[in-house]
Amino acid sequence: AAHDLIAPSILSADFAKLGEEVDNVLAAGADIVHFDVMDNHYVPNLTIGPLVCEALRKHGVTAPIDVHLMVKPVDRIIPDFAQAGATYITFHPEASEHIDRTLQLINAEGCKAGLVFNPATPLTCLEYVMDKIDMILLMSVNPGFGGQSFIPSALDKLSQVRELIDASGRDIRLEIDGGVKADNIAAIKAAGADTFVSGSGIFGKGKDSDPNRYDSIIAQMRAALAD
Ligand code: DX5
Ligand code: ZN
Repeated sequence: AAHDLIAPSILSADFAKLGEEVDNVLAAGADIVHFDVMDNHYVPNLTIGPLVCEALRKHGVTAPIDVHLMVKPVDRIIPDFAQAGATYITFHPEASEHIDRTLQLINAEGCKAGLVFNPATPLTCLEYVMDKIDMILLMSVNPGFGGQSFIPSALDKLSQVRELIDASGRDIRLEIDGGVKADNIAAIKAAGADTFVSGSGIFGKGKDSDPNRYDSIIAQMRAALAD
């Protein structure tokens, strides 16, 4: 099985010192940076775009950047994120008019591609594009905000997707996003995930983010994954 990846969602970081926050979680043992892009259209919130991704690269971040697009439409912004240094680009199938074309575009831009499924979105298109994706992201909250509670039905969905990935024989990451904490991460891994997004679980809620906590939280998560 693939190595488990811990992916802090910078949505819950202190944006006034984002470079430092990212350096600190990576130094604390995180593997990849989860980068939430919201457009106040596909989701009712507005966050960060390619300029911020590029700024993190210029700051010296070399870890993979996992760009989660919660935008509609998606295609126009993909080349900008590729240029800005994105490693993975994932999007919600219902936000694209032509899912296969969007996946081809991401791959042509040299990035790894993935599809994101909301808690109540069926996996229908997945079987047709397994050869074009490197990641499947299952949402365990409704997208738009950090700090929500994990929706338990995501566990069965994870097991379902784990079977599809194993049957495909392809090296596809299975990522989970929403309400992931040190105390539920083991059950989430047992259901089949190998890539774990955590925003408020790592950075804390609101303005109480404390870099001194990152080492211990990530160590707790790592220990729970190893058990
Ligand atoms: C929600 C975002 C998540 C969010 C997760 O729309 O996609 O990445 O930051 O935050 P937590 O871990 O606090 O649920
Ligand atoms: Zn996300």
